[in-house]
Amino acid sequence: MKKYNVAVVGANGAVGEEILRVLEEIDFPLAKLVPLASARSLGTQVEFNGQNLDIIELTEDVFEKEAVEIALFSAGGSVSAKYAPFAVKAGAVVIDNTSHYRMDENVPLVVPEVNPQDIAKYKETGIIANPNCSTIQMVQTLKPLDEAYDLVRVDVATYQATSGAGKTAMKELVDQMQAFFAFTLDEAKVEAFNQQIALNVIPQIDVFTPNNYTKEEMKMVNETTKIMHKEIPLSATCVRVPVLRGHAEALTLTFDSQVNADEAKAILSKAPNIVLVDNPDEELYPMPKDCVDANETFVGRVREDLFANNMLHLFIVADNLRVGAATNAVRIAQKWVEMENQA
Ligand code: A2P
Repeated sequence: MKKYNVAVVGANGAVGEEILRVLEEIDFPLAKLVPLASARSLGTQVEFNGQNLDIIELTEDVFEKEAVEIALFSAGGSVSAKYAPFAVKAGAVVIDNTSHYRMDENVPLVVPEVNPQDIAKYKETGIIANPNCSTIQMVQTLKPLDEAYDLVRVDVATYQATSGAGKTAMKELVDQMQAFFAFTLDEAKVEAFNQQIALNVIPQIDVFTPNNYTKEEMKMVNETTKIMHKEIPLSATCVRVPVLRGHAEALTLTFDSQVNADEAKAILSKAPNIVLVDNPDEELYPMPKDCVDANETFVGRVREDLFANNMLHLFIVADNLRVGAATNAVRIAQKWVEMENQA
């Protein structure tokens, strides 16, 4: 089987590092790994498969020089906007983790468990977009239930970890907690988030849009429709919580037909990359602390609504750096390779 030169843009960032871990763990047909970051990181290294690799500076011609065939971008929207076209020009397929290309109608937005067929559309631009972290774990859960009962509405509240905002944001939570124990929390830096995150929850992720929903909330609305090829009315409340890794979501789902919680659990337990953790008798349910480094989405607290027979409530958790970013990107790459080898 052909092996590929793979570049990771933002290789020493929170998501980039996780991409390296996922690539190490799976049997990916890798010829060469090219770890890219900014000039700030020159002289530093990343560890990959027991070796220390020098960070290479992201430049316009690095993709051509390194003969990159797959470029995984995770260094922010403006970096993707500027450099993804150079990767494409050099003949690479770009898998972009940022929101920059997600809603571009010529760019497929892919969760391999939901719409793998859309990957073929990459030929139009050379780019495949990776959805928002909260959207990925949600649509993985929605898809099998939609097939069974025909989903007509989603209401979701998220509990999102600080790592969704990168390494500096994770550090800010830790620093503020340390300041709390040193009785200096009042003086601690508040930079990565617009409010103190330690001992707090913040009902704002990203900026507000004119309809009073935040950008993060509107991403969940628009991306879900694009991935599922179905206009699903959806309302989201996205909340940042003082957790380092693992996004949780409380979902209220309304269907066109009557639902049964036991049957729904049986359906979910067979769905790809979903793990059912749901046993009230033993007080078992999914939690962020149990999902770190896992490549699956954990689903629990599956209940019928008390008043309507066509509604279900569930609680889902996934590692946002893996399922919500790195693992999804690598799974897209694997599917792309599969398709290339069939062509
Ligand atoms: P660098 O450390 O050299 O700036 P995180 O999401 O954890 O904050 O990480 C962001 C990642 O994106 C880092 O690897 C960072 O590398 C990289 N990055 C940020 N800005 C640029 C840029 N202008 N060019 C290349 N890489 C960038």
